[in-house]
Amino acid sequence: MESLKLLLVILLTITSSFVASSASEGNYYPPTPSGGSKSCDKDPLVCHTKGVVKQTCCKNKCVNVLANKSHCGNCATKCEKNEHCCSGDCVSLKTDCLNCGKCGIVCELGFKCCNGKCVNTKIDKKNCGWCHNKCKGHDYCLDGVCSGYAGM
Ligand SMILES: *[C@@H]1O[C@H](CO)[C@@H](O)[C@H](O)[C@H]1NC(C)=O
Repeated sequence: MESLKLLLVILLTITSSFVASSASEGNYYPPTPSGGSKSCDKDPLVCHTKGVVKQTCCKNKCVNVLANKSHCGNCATKCEKNEHCCSGDCVSLKTDCLNCGKCGIVCELGFKCCNGKCVNTKIDKKNCGWCHNKCKGHDYCLDGVCSGYAGM
């Protein structure tokens, strides 16, 4: 009987120290893997504990709506197949001057985004005046117009 009492005391001590240590870590919300499957439907705050990116609960999954093309800007917005999600906007990386080739790559003033590259269409032989307007042969691009050497 005495040894049973001792066992009970030991058990109680172990249990209470376990509870105390897990409470002191302050991990009230369970951490979630990205695109995780914890039930954020029941507790949206589950998505707010991950690192610096505040995620949104979409159909019971934590989602970064700033970058996820299936949920861009909000849970319901899906980008077109050829689009990307940059800062919550669906954009074409091939033509968007604010996200040219990659999210956040901004073309300089006077430049256009052609096929994912910032180009100066005033002088670019392959994109003269507008994207994909290629000057022929030895022609050059002057002020956005293909010009030839003929007569010079
Ligand atoms: C976008 O969100 C979905 C959840 O609907 C997830 O399965 C997918 O992995 C996410 N995509 C990225 C690139 O994180």
